[in-house]
Amino acid sequence: MNILEIIAKKRDKKVLSKEEIDFFVKNYTNGNITDYQAAALIMAIYINGMNYEETTSFTLAMAHSGEVLDLSELGMVVDKHSTGGIGDKITLILMPIIASLGIPSAKMSGRGLGFTGGTVDKLESIPGYNTNIDISEFINNVKNIGISLMGQTLNLAPADKKIYALRDTISCVESIPLIASSIMSKKIAAGAEKIVLEVTVGSGAFMKNIEDATKLSETMIGIGNLADKETICILTNMNQPIGYSIGNSLEVIEAVEALNGNMQDDVKNVILELGAYILKLDGKGDNIQENKEKIEQVISNGEAYRKFLQLVENQGGDISYIENTEKFTKAKYKMPVEAVKTGYVQKLNAEEVGKIAMHLGAGRMKKEDNIDYAVGIELLKKVGCQVGQGETIAYIYADDEQKGRKAVEKLQQTYEIGEQNVEKVADIIEIIE
Ligand code: URA
Repeated sequence: MNILEIIAKKRDKKVLSKEEIDFFVKNYTNGNITDYQAAALIMAIYINGMNYEETTSFTLAMAHSGEVLDLSELGMVVDKHSTGGIGDKITLILMPIIASLGIPSAKMSGRGLGFTGGTVDKLESIPGYNTNIDISEFINNVKNIGISLMGQTLNLAPADKKIYALRDTISCVESIPLIASSIMSKKIAAGAEKIVLEVTVGSGAFMKNIEDATKLSETMIGIGNLADKETICILTNMNQPIGYSIGNSLEVIEAVEALNGNMQDDVKNVILELGAYILKLDGKGDNIQENKEKIEQVISNGEAYRKFLQLVENQGGDISYIENTEKFTKAKYKMPVEAVKTGYVQKLNAEEVGKIAMHLGAGRMKKEDNIDYAVGIELLKKVGCQVGQGETIAYIYADDEQKGRKAVEKLQQTYEIGEQNVEKVADIIEIIE
């Protein structure tokens, strides 16, 4: 067997065997296959696809390319993962809620790249919070206080890390079998028994339409079942950013407000739906409505907020910033964005908003870039809102005046305002079990 034959086979639209896929994943990860050969194969997969068996083999080969965590000593761990979005602070809010309902919350998250943010960067905007702990500390934290949120360790699905980075440089990210295998390899390696996946759909998501999101969901559920990990996918709307803030400490502040009961409707709908299905998978109740009520209860009685404080303190974070969010370092400039005309907000392209935040310094253009935690965007008006000409519809938070002015102009152009009122797209599009 050699890589040239494997590339030629996929180039010619043939099906790869499990042995061929194992050979590629193993030898690319250990450096025996070059980047240009791997790029050729990945591009052939992108163009010609993989069937269900190939996708499963690819997933399992990547999952077992490094350490596979065993979290069984923690009881039934249900993992949550999102295919990515703009302003996505769901993990920060949902995991303390779940932990306060008695479900072990052990989650590894990633950093932001490009126009999408990452939970690890958001957590690190809390002074002192350590995302870089070792696995034994991670497990002990969950045993002691029921929750730990950390960064992905180096040797978890290393093949995915290498292949994902390569895909990013050759325009091969948006492929259903490649995304499904990438996500599921990490979930399998991360050791949870059951998985709830938020599959985002729309302008700020990898999946731009419901058909593709459904196909991706069905592929991931199939892989999950084969790996003996029950998986549920919840399709959510990502045509506009979720919540009102985009940017690292701004999103932490919004998460703290949400845990104190002040939650925007779209955030609340996603939190309740994902949380209710996590409770169901964990065997805490099959009635989704009742599960939602349990979630509302731990928010209103303060238990979820106190769990978040406990999490931050336990991982070295300064909780005085959570108790008084005014303490977070402020960006130098807070610039209003005014509506160019009177009417209703028709569209607010999430990807464009994400790019504006990235150029302000809230995200990374390249892996090595530093993040500015204080900068970002606060949205006062979203799709369906009525606005008057000259009214402030958003704020830009910038540390560089020039960049701030450019962001104001760009965001103003991104707000599409028209005369007709528009019907809001549902936050929850579909549940696929
Ligand atoms: N998220 C992942 O982890 N992998 C992908 O390929 C796309 C989104």
